[in-house]
Amino acid sequence: MSPTAHPARGRADLVALRGRHFFTDQEYSRDELLDLLDLAVALKALYRRRPHTPFLEGRTLAMIFEHPSTRTRISFEAGMSELGGHAQYLRPGEIHLGGHETVADTARVVSRLVDAIMARTAYHTTLAELAAHATVPVINGLTDDYDHPVQSMTDAMTILEHFGTVEGLTCAFVGKCADAMGTSVALTMTRLGSSMVMAAPPEEQMTPETEALARANCAESGASLTLTDDAVAGVKGADVVFTVGWWWMQPEDEKNELRRVLGPYQVNEELWRHTKPGAKFMHCLPAVRGEEMTDAILDAPFSIVLDEAENRKHFQKALLLALIGIDAAPADPELGEIARALLP
Ligand code: CP
Repeated sequence: MSPTAHPARGRADLVALRGRHFFTDQEYSRDELLDLLDLAVALKALYRRRPHTPFLEGRTLAMIFEHPSTRTRISFEAGMSELGGHAQYLRPGEIHLGGHETVADTARVVSRLVDAIMARTAYHTTLAELAAHATVPVINGLTDDYDHPVQSMTDAMTILEHFGTVEGLTCAFVGKCADAMGTSVALTMTRLGSSMVMAAPPEEQMTPETEALARANCAESGASLTLTDDAVAGVKGADVVFTVGWWWMQPEDEKNELRRVLGPYQVNEELWRHTKPGAKFMHCLPAVRGEEMTDAILDAPFSIVLDEAENRKHFQKALLLALIGIDAAPADPELGEIARALLP
């Protein structure tokens, strides 16, 4: 890890994260989030030299999914393997969560068996209940009705790689701003000091509650938040343009209504003409080609969606290391620098 990247912050920040939940990144200070990003970048560089870095040998992550996943499942599972640990994939409907057994009892029992829990739930309240009763760290792997902070922190890491900073930029989120990704990107980026423009039709704009949180972040970080229903004005001056899928498991008639409302917010070549030179396109994926964006945008040289997907693993390895923690430096000297940042 570069000791000079953020000289104002010390390794104590990372040690202090041990045992905490990652329910939302809004419970973490800006410095803690920046330290996690530094660790993620260091782990990615280490991975390029050697994929197997057994900091978490013998440790287990339970991965509870109420809904399907490609990136979240694979990146957490591969990340734990590379760290020398193990991840259990508990597929939708496979355990008693909230069915035959209360969420609280599941949280208590699973906490006795594993070292951390990652959960993707339909409702944010389910994750909150899990976190309230778990005695090991609980990581939010997306709550459909609210946020996706491991993705938005990964997005911040990807922006850091491409722009060299996560502060002082302008990011535009275009289309379904009310989505969990709109919420998370707005909250993470304003907390880290980048301004956000949310361009959406009124019925798909961010909620007043999310707006209040983002404005509080701006007051602290010096960033700004702009809400608009004008997609062209929204992308002007943006360093990064985000969008997200307009639907997931909705029936066809709802898809048609969303297509009607969100169609003018499609990210396409015409809209891209209004972005500034050097702007990047981001999407957490899965993408529905020809709907929220065209093939020409998703596959363009300025699209960094595959870096985003890859970085899920590196950011989450940093998070797992910080939350689970390590008790002793591995004997291998090449792992020593990272280990020192994690040891009390
Ligand atoms: N971006 C994301 O969370 O993808 P999955 O739904 O495939 O996990």
